[in-house]
Amino acid sequence: MVIHYTNILQVLSNKLTKMMKTNVTVPHKLIFSLSLIFSTLSFSSQAAEIKGNPEAGASKVRLCIGCHAIPGYRSSVPEIYTVPMIGGQTSGYIVSSLQAYKKGERKHPTMRSVAGSLSDQDMADIAEYYAAQTATSSPNKLK
Ligand code: HEC
Repeated sequence: MVIHYTNILQVLSNKLTKMMKTNVTVPHKLIFSLSLIFSTLSFSSQAAEIKGNPEAGASKVRLCIGCHAIPGYRSSVPEIYTVPMIGGQTSGYIVSSLQAYKKGERKHPTMRSVAGSLSDQDMADIAEYYAAQTATSSPNKLK
């Protein structure tokens, strides 16, 4: 679908560029169809849903394990504080909290910088990985 649109776009852009070069008045219809295609394209890319892959997520949690996988879920840097358990949490919740840290709606400084380094695809993969965890899941090999 997108490839199809891209081809049409290519042809129309070439036509437009030629017309501009030769100083011919660009027909309004052409401009209209171009803008229509552009808006359809951006609409469809927004609608495209990002699907998480738990296997891909398993290799992306190196950064998280140090805090979220220690016994008692506590971290001691710079002082002792508890770290929430995220294994078994629903993927939707994990993604939305990571997005909230990235946007700054949640303020925890470490989590803000951690989430800030993740793409939407990373978040989806990591979320599926943690959502699939149960109390009996074997420890991550990267631990
Ligand atoms: C330096 C320690 C540290 C690291 C590294 C870390 N986290 Fe966190 N994380 C925390 C702490 C502490 C909180 C609780 C922060 C708060 O109070 O908002 C938290 C909160 C969260 C939450 C929200 C949990 C909830 O119940 O609302 C999620 C989701 C999360 N982290 C995911 C991750 C992921 C995914 C990674 C790796 C990409 C990661 N964290 C790396 C310490 C860490």
